[in-house]
Amino acid sequence: MDAADIAPDLTKVLYTSAEIEARLAELAAQIDRDYAGSNPLLVGVLNGAVMVMADLSRALKIDCEMDWMAISSYGSGTQSSGVVRILKDLNTDLVGRHVLVVEDIIDTGLTLTYLMQNLASRNPATLKIMAMFRKPDAMKIDIDVAYVGFDLPNQFVVGYGLDYAGKYRNLTDVGILAPHVYS
Ligand code: PRP
Repeated sequence: MDAADIAPDLTKVLYTSAEIEARLAELAAQIDRDYAGSNPLLVGVLNGAVMVMADLSRALKIDCEMDWMAISSYGSGTQSSGVVRILKDLNTDLVGRHVLVVEDIIDTGLTLTYLMQNLASRNPATLKIMAMFRKPDAMKIDIDVAYVGFDLPNQFVVGYGLDYAGKYRNLTDVGILAPHVYS
């Protein structure tokens, strides 16, 4: 679905699918240069990263491999607690690998802080982050992100993997959710 299909549910379209595709092409070109010849392992964090992983990996010209983690944040409601339970671990040994974590969004930064510590302890050769979106005003902890698609306002944003109660992940554009949907 695109923004026109759910127009009443959005107050604003922030990025169209064409803008997302163009930005991903730029990031893929950077990653092609930075990881040339190193067969990086792209680590996707389920569920939100499915869209960006699928599009980024196909935009790359270099060889890469993919693996997935499923994690659950301890804590109540929608607030990230930063303490993470691993529901599905990687199948791949990270020792000596060039690992690029692929995320849909960095919100508070707590989830990735925990995850990066966990992955670093597995002795990869390098460990970096690619995030399609980031909310600078929501970040509670500074994270070094090697590749960022777009910075978002600290509002309820859906689409391109970002959900509200499980919905809107399949929205091809990214927009601000209308308050009537969640209030
Ligand atoms: C989202 C996103 C990150 C995390 C970021 O996942 O994919 O993993 O939240 O939040 P933080 O920076 O505040 O820690 P979520 O837990 O919503 O699960 P999902 O990927 O299945 O949507």
